[in-house]
Formats: sequence, C-alpha cells, structure tokens
Amino acid sequence: MISLLLRTKGPVLTLREPHHAPKRGALLGDLNILFGANIGIDAVSGKVNYVSPQEPSPNLMNPSCAVIDCGERVVMPGFVDCHNHLLWAGSRAHEFFARCHGATYQEIAQAGGGILYTREKTLEATEDELVATGRRHLRLLVDNGVTTVEAKSGYALTPEGELTVLRAVARLQREFAGTIIPTYLGAHAIPPEFADRREEYVQQVIDTLPRVRAEKLAEFCDVFVDPLAFTVDEGRRILTAAKELGFQLKLHADEFGDDGGTALGLELGAVSVDHLAGIGNGSIAPLSDTMTVAVLLPATMFFTNTPMQAPARKMIDAGVAIALATDLNPGSSLVFSPAFVMTLACLQMQMGCDEVINAHVKNAAFALGRGYTKGALAPGMDADVVVLDTDDYRELGYYIGGDNIDTVIARGRILKRGGKLGDSLMGESAVS
Ligand code: NIG
Ligand code: FE
Repeated sequence: MISLLLRTKGPVLTLREPHHAPKRGALLGDLNILFGANIGIDAVSGKVNYVSPQEPSPNLMNPSCAVIDCGERVVMPGFVDCHNHLLWAGSRAHEFFARCHGATYQEIAQAGGGILYTREKTLEATEDELVATGRRHLRLLVDNGVTTVEAKSGYALTPEGELTVLRAVARLQREFAGTIIPTYLGAHAIPPEFADRREEYVQQVIDTLPRVRAEKLAEFCDVFVDPLAFTVDEGRRILTAAKELGFQLKLHADEFGDDGGTALGLELGAVSVDHLAGIGNGSIAPLSDTMTVAVLLPATMFFTNTPMQAPARKMIDAGVAIALATDLNPGSSLVFSPAFVMTLACLQMQMGCDEVINAHVKNAAFALGRGYTKGALAPGMDADVVVLDTDDYRELGYYIGGDNIDTVIARGRILKRGGKLGDSLMGESAVS
C-alpha cells in the first residue's frame, strides 16, 4: 500500500540502471530523469512501491495516505556517504590552524599528533559519550541529505576500545531511520606502544576480527595502506584473515602516492579502494571494468591543503567505477556536505555536474554493498529520498554553503521537512 505519495511536476532523478551495476564511462552522466512523476512509498516496508507519471489507482492507496506536493522541485535518492569515520572524541582544531601556518598533515602525524591525538581522546570517552557525538554527526549529515552512511572504527586502536566504538555504532543503528554500515578499521595507525612491535599489532588486529564478527559489529574490514600506517604485506595479512571470516573489504589506498594499495585491493576482490589521489597510471587500467569501486575523497585534499586530487577524468575515461564521499573525520576532512564534495569534484577533478550525483549516490551505494537496494528511485528500492528546494539539480554544487535540501526521507520516515530537521533521528512516520 502507498502510505506516502510524493507528487512532482519537476525533475525526478531516478538514477535507474537496468543492469544493476555501478555507472561507468558515459553512463556516469546519465541521471535517468523523469519529468513529473508520482512516487509512492510503503511506510511498513520502507520501500518505494510506485514510480509513474500516472496517478496511482485508489486501490493502491492507504486510506490515510499522506501527500507531499513537491511542485517543480528536484526529487532524487538520498545521498550515500560511503567513506565516513563518524565516531571519535576531541577536536583537532589546533592542527587545522597549524596547517594554515605551514605545518603539513604528515609532519603533524609524525610528531605524534593526528590520528594518535584523536586516539587518546577516544580512549577516554565512554560509550555514551561516543553515542552522543554520533547523534550530533548524524544530524549534520541528514541535514545535508545523507540517508546512508558508513561508520568506521579506528580511533581507539585497542581491542576493547574498538569494540566499544562499534557497539556505540550499533546503538546508533537502532535509533536512526537511515542506514549505518559499520566498518572495522583497527588497522588505521600503529599505536605508539607497538612502534617497535608492528607484527604484534597486526596480530592483535587479526585476533580482534572474530570478536567483531561474533557480535556482528561490522560488515567491512578496512586497512590504511600507507607509508605512515601499514605496508602492503601487513594489509594483505589482515584483509585475508578478514575475508576468511566473511568480512567484505575496503582499503585506504594510494592517498599521497602509488603505494600498492589499489593493486592489493584488486588482488583480494575489495568492494572499494578509497582516496587514490596518488594513484599511478599503471594502477588505473587494472581497476577498469572491475566491480571494485574507486572512492574519491576530494574534501580530504582540500581540508589538508594538499595541492593534488585523484585523476578522476582519466579514471572515468578508462571505465573505472567512481564514487565520491566526504571522508568525514576530525583530522583530514571535517566535512559533512555531499554538495560541497560535489563542488570540489567539479572544480578540482573536472567531473560533470551529472557525474558527481551518480558518484555520490548510485556508485556510493555499490561501494557499501547496497547497490541493489539503494541509490535509485524505483519500485523495490529503499525509500531514501531527498527533495531539493530548487528545480535545477546543478544548484547542489553551485550554492556553496547554502542549504538547498528541503526534505529528507529515510526508509519511508521523514527526517527533514520544509528545510527543518526534526527532533528525532527516527524521523516521523507519514501515516498516523
Ligand atoms: O581517511 N587516511 C586515513 N585516515 C583518515 C584520516 C584520519 C585522521 O587524520 O584523523 C582519512 O583521511
Ligand atoms: Fe578515511
């Protein structure tokens, strides 16, 4: 039954893709737009159950069906933030402003700041405090149109600490109408107490995997493969163990240079390889036409004031499936806005205003293993919907800092309406 009906005369960006695959090449710019459509949502299943220019017949309608008249405004699927660190404690404002005066992200990390600073604060925080921070971050993300978000651990770096963070994520999953996909990132940095015993830390991460699995606390396992973090061989050991336990794989790869992370991701069949600002030409061709999604994070290079970006054009032309995400984290990207990420992708990576939408919605859903249920407006897909307050979707990336997200619906529940965020992360049901 249709319990919530969106009536629109304007563009509906359906992002439908008949082959259920990430969009690549020329298809990346195809938004599959319907002009003037009725979108029916079943509040019980939280799914879209009707998309058509025709008025649904009365026998499909719940008698107390609510109607939202979208007028000429753009309707599209909710944003998917497929690379997001979501939970941590403490602020790194001091590092941000030190960077404004010349310090580099790498220098700060090498001097014991960076991830290790956030680690100290995160280890001091209670599960309740982490949940409270998560609520705040989720509200900011929803306000920006995000309905599905990844949540990586990786700021505790002890077995108990990582489990606490992931348990906080599990609590947030239960109180959020949107979708949170948890990732275990115990291999985010080598803690200082293991500096001379790297092997032991790698083994500790591996030994924590079954505990994470037993409590069903993460779908993905991620490793930061980088000269500042883990080697390719260490990454291979951790990810191979994770794969054997049934985790899907992600990698922070080739962020500042071609460090072999992309190649490792392909070798192990990773769902995504992320960052890639330093990817070399030799790693692009092997990625082409694979199901491994390349998640590009232009806000990270912006926030760290690093004058480089991933070679998005080259990758798109080679047939790589590109996604975009915020990389929300306290040190290298305190960015909550997909629209701003899209601005950067257009300005600094020469992506098209259509391509960035597919990349931050459709392909991002594939990067979280949700390409079959999210990222398009079609019957059977989750009812994650955003209504803009404009009839021109290009204004998303053009109105920098302007809020053009009018309405946000996650699995059929209304989280934001008329530009106003509701009080509850569970949103409101359309029907009483
Ligand atoms: O995705 N690259 C590794 N990790 C984070 C940065 C974490 C931090 O600085 O706190 C990232 O950019
Ligand atoms: Fe990251």
